[in-house]
Amino acid sequence: MDGNGRWAKARGKERIQGHIEGVNSVRACVEAAARAGVRWLSLYAFSEENWNRPAAEVQALMKLMVQALNNEIDNLVKNGIRLRVLGNLERLGPELQSLIESMSAKTEGGERMTLVIFLSYSGRWDILQAVKRASSELSAQQLEALDQDGFSRFLVTSGIPDPDLLIRTSGEQRISNYLLWQCAYTEFYYTDTLWPDFREPQLLEALEAYAGRDRRYGKVK
Ligand code: IPE
Ligand code: MG
Repeated sequence: MDGNGRWAKARGKERIQGHIEGVNSVRACVEAAARAGVRWLSLYAFSEENWNRPAAEVQALMKLMVQALNNEIDNLVKNGIRLRVLGNLERLGPELQSLIESMSAKTEGGERMTLVIFLSYSGRWDILQAVKRASSELSAQQLEALDQDGFSRFLVTSGIPDPDLLIRTSGEQRISNYLLWQCAYTEFYYTDTLWPDFREPQLLEALEAYAGRDRRYGKVK
């Protein structure tokens, strides 16, 4: 979700106003994705690198996150949406950590779609924590026999399918340390639309584009 700051700047507003409007896009896209039959929707909300932004912006974003979770919980439950939050959550404050835990528990029964929010996440962090866990939990023999599927189970996305489609807004064309391992065969979709302007029509356009892709996974047809 990129372009909140530019959206605000273009309107002569503070960056935080762009983030606030971005939350409205989150709500719109979550509901639209569920309606469209998407089973897993992941949002890259805050990267590990985002911790390096000015403290005031980080603080405002965290406050917004707490507000959004509190405001949306009933909607998620009503819409059958299960929430999971993944990332280096130890870096979050205790309030947000316990809120995440209780929200996840409350939405556990949601069977229509799983919403995965990546918070304080980076792909390299994920791979590194997986290596560390695998090497401490497995014997030398098990490590020797470890294959790609086996290794995937140590990533924080264990049990979650690899993304079929990655949508990048605001004209940027880079992966920015997102799901590095998991995106090996993901289809990428780039749009100039800034995240606060990305709503149901733009999501459906992206899904339409994805439907036209020919996925060969390195093979010939
Ligand atoms: C994305 O919008 C939101 C977060 C990373 C939290 P940006 O804040 O990166 O917006 P731009 O890139 O400055 O426009
Ligand atoms: Mg940005």
